[in-house]
Amino acid sequence: MNATKIIHSIPSDPLTGAISVPVYQTSTFIQEAPGVNRGFDYARSNNPTRKVLEDVVAKLEGGHGGFAFATGLAAIDSVLKLLSSGDEIVAVDDIYGGAYRLFTHVYEKLGVKVNYVDTTDVENVVDAITTKTKLIWIESPTNPTLKVSDIAAISKIAKSVDALLVVDNTFASPIAQNPIELGADIIIHSGTKYIGGHSDLVAGLVVTASEELSEKLKFIQNASGGVLGPWDCFLTIRGIETLDLRFKKQCENADVVANFLNSHDAVSEVHFPGLETHKNHKIAKKQQNGLFGGIVSFSLKEDTVEAAVDFVTNTQFFKLAESLGGVKSLLCHPAQMTHASIPREIRLKSGIKDSLIRLSCGVENVEDLISDLTRVFELIETNKAALII
Ligand SMILES: Cc1ncc(COP(=O)(O)O)c(C=O)c1O
Repeated sequence: MNATKIIHSIPSDPLTGAISVPVYQTSTFIQEAPGVNRGFDYARSNNPTRKVLEDVVAKLEGGHGGFAFATGLAAIDSVLKLLSSGDEIVAVDDIYGGAYRLFTHVYEKLGVKVNYVDTTDVENVVDAITTKTKLIWIESPTNPTLKVSDIAAISKIAKSVDALLVVDNTFASPIAQNPIELGADIIIHSGTKYIGGHSDLVAGLVVTASEELSEKLKFIQNASGGVLGPWDCFLTIRGIETLDLRFKKQCENADVVANFLNSHDAVSEVHFPGLETHKNHKIAKKQQNGLFGGIVSFSLKEDTVEAAVDFVTNTQFFKLAESLGGVKSLLCHPAQMTHASIPREIRLKSGIKDSLIRLSCGVENVEDLISDLTRVFELIETNKAALII
């Protein structure tokens, strides 16, 4: 969807003509007679501000239905509730740490088994499928090593075994990638990230490809109740108005930052799907509209937790914080932060080294971001030289 369509898919208020969507801060709605209402009866079931957000997100992703939740994890949780005890999931190994925690410590206890594989190789997905596989769960690109999986190829495999393909599209955003067009059944987003875009809210979104799945998700959303409140729906809608603008600038900045890091002596490897040397560059280019996202991760030649801590505590514009996708640049140390819930040996196996640092490029002037990184590399070099003397 282009910027014009996105902006004009957000309706003005039919009641008053207000150009921005009103915040319907209400828990309930007056009924003319029992069961006779104007489409809204109780705010857990539906709310007019939330409905606008849900409809807009469904359009953004080219899906049938949209559903807004209190957080990205609540959105993931709602999709997992489609499963029953005994069912299995095939999931990408480099999965977001919070999703891993939910899968392992909540759903495995309830009898759902998860097989983690490197989904960038389609054969690994085929090999991991059993007769009990009901969901294939991928993130593309992944958090934080930016692995890219072939969504169209995996969707064919999912269909052939009657499993649902779920794509966590948080890192690509609906601007770069629309997984339903590539054959996915369900998309989830941490709306906290690019869609909200200002690091001022937490939100989760689900988009379904079919009426049948929409009905199931609507039921789960109402039955479990983890909905997004009207004020946060308003902020998310406002974020969507500038999503195209922000995301493209963030992609541009990340491209410059990735190339800078790629030629730096102190860096051992750079993960950014826009680099031609990236293992999955070709498929990323094909399925992501030539946009590679605003996240770059890299590890240091001195591959230690201490070296990473030295780096992340000295930047000026890249603020040390969890999360990503906002207008202000952020950085984090996954081994101790976002992915701390993953045991070290599993973390290392999925490529998250001890010194791995994740950058989320904001919309600042890119020269300032580069000079921030340059200054920190120089500082560390000077400190090291002083220690040797
Ligand atoms: C890829 C991905 N999916 C889901 C989530 C969870 O979203 P939330 O933090 O909004 O619950 C995150 C959070 O970092 C994420 O990075």
